[in-house]
Amino acid sequence: MAQNPAQSFTLNVDGNTHTVEVDDPDMPLLYALRDHMGLNNPRFGCGLGQCGACTVHLDGRPVRSCITPVSAVGDSRIGTLAGLGTPDKPHPIQKAWLDEQVSQCAYCINGWIMTAAALLDEKPRPTDQEIKDALSTLICRCGTHAAAIRAVKRAAQTL
Ligand code: FES
Ligand code: FES
Repeated sequence: MAQNPAQSFTLNVDGNTHTVEVDDPDMPLLYALRDHMGLNNPRFGCGLGQCGACTVHLDGRPVRSCITPVSAVGDSRIGTLAGLGTPDKPHPIQKAWLDEQVSQCAYCINGWIMTAAALLDEKPRPTDQEIKDALSTLICRCGTHAAAIRAVKRAAQTL
C-alpha cells in the first residue's frame, strides 16, 4: 500500500521557528514537541485530554497538546514551560510553586504551571472559585491540589 507523503509544518514555539515533517497531519502536537523537537516539558499522561500533563499555550490559552493535531496549530504562538521563566528569572507562578513546595513526584507539574500561568495572565487577581475552576480538570496522583491552589494565590499577590 502506498504511504502518504510527509507533510511539513512550521511551528512557532517559545518565539523560535521549527519545521517538522510528519506522515500524519493528525499527529498530536505533543508528539511534534517531544519527539521532533526534543521539548520534553509537556508530558504524556493520559493521551486523552483528561489529565492536563501535556498542556501548552496556544496564543496564550491553555490547550491539551495530546489531543491537538499538529495541523490545527497554524500560525498560533505555542508557549511551553521552557519559555515561561528561567531559574534566574522564574515566572511568579514558578516561584510560588517552589515557595509552597507544591511538587511531589512532579510528573504533573507542567500542566498545573501552564494552566495557572494562563489564568493569571487573563485574571491577575482571580477569586478562589476562579482558581478552583481553572485547575479543576487537572489530575495529580500525589494529591497536591490544595498546595497548588495556595501557590496560585501566592503568585497573584505578587503580580
Ligand atoms: S496527556 Fe494530554 S490531557 Fe493527559
Ligand atoms: S506531583 Fe506527582 S502527579 Fe502531581
